[in-house]
Amino acid sequence: MGKVIAIDGPAASGKSTVAKRVAAALDDALYVDSGAVYRGITWAALERGVDVHDADAVEAMLGELDVRFFSRDGAAGFSIDGIEPGTAIRTQAVNNAVSPVAVIPAVRVQVVKWLREMASLGTLVMEGRDIGTAVFPNTPHKFYLDASAEERIRRRHREMAADSAIDEDEVGTSLRRRDKIDSSRKMDPLQVAPGATRIDSTAMGIDDVVNTILSAVSEDV
Ligand code: DC
Repeated sequence: MGKVIAIDGPAASGKSTVAKRVAAALDDALYVDSGAVYRGITWAALERGVDVHDADAVEAMLGELDVRFFSRDGAAGFSIDGIEPGTAIRTQAVNNAVSPVAVIPAVRVQVVKWLREMASLGTLVMEGRDIGTAVFPNTPHKFYLDASAEERIRRRHREMAADSAIDEDEVGTSLRRRDKIDSSRKMDPLQVAPGATRIDSTAMGIDDVVNTILSAVSEDV
C-alpha cells in the first residue's frame, strides 16, 4: 500500500490546486478528487431521473451502477456504466444536487470503500472533506487547508467570473450554505482531523502552501 497524503478543507480553500501540485511534485503520486466521485453519482442520478432526495432510490441505483476507476496522467479517473462524465459533473444542476446525495449514509459507505481501494494504485494525494477523519484516519500525512470566508468567496468569484457574470453576493450565499451543510451533517462532517496540520492560506500564495506540505511530508518519512 502506498503513502496517503490527505488534504481536507472547505469549498474554495484551494485544495484542488494545492493537491494537484503536491502530487505533481512527488514521484509516481496520483491526485484524487474525492468530491468528483460524489459528483459522479449525483450526475448518474440526474441522468436517470432518480430523485436525489430519495435516499432509498439513490441507494438502489448505486447498487446497479458499474463504476470503474483508473489512473491517467497522474490522476485517478472513473467511468460509470462505460461513460466518463468529464465536465458534466461540474454543472449547476450537479452543484445543487450533490449535497443531498453526499449525506446519504449508503453513498458515503460505498465511496469511502472505493477511495480506500485506490491505495493499491500507489502514493495518493487525496483531497476532500473527510479524508483525514474517515477515509484514511491512520495516515500520518494529514492537512486541513483553510482561508477566511471572505477570501474563499473572492477566490470562487474570480474563478466563476471567467465564464459568467455572477455577482459576489450570490457566490457568498451559496458558499456559506455549502459550508454549513458540509460541517453540520451527521456522518463524517467537515472538521480538522486529529493530528492534522492546519494551514490558513488567507494571506499565503499557492507556492507557499505547496512547499509547506511538501516539507512536512518529507520530514515525516
Ligand atoms: O469538493 P466538491 O465541491 O467537488 O464536493 C462535492 C460535494 O461532495 C460536496 O457537497 C461535499 C461532498 N464531499 C464529501 O462529502 N466528502 C468528500 N470527501 C468530498 C466531497
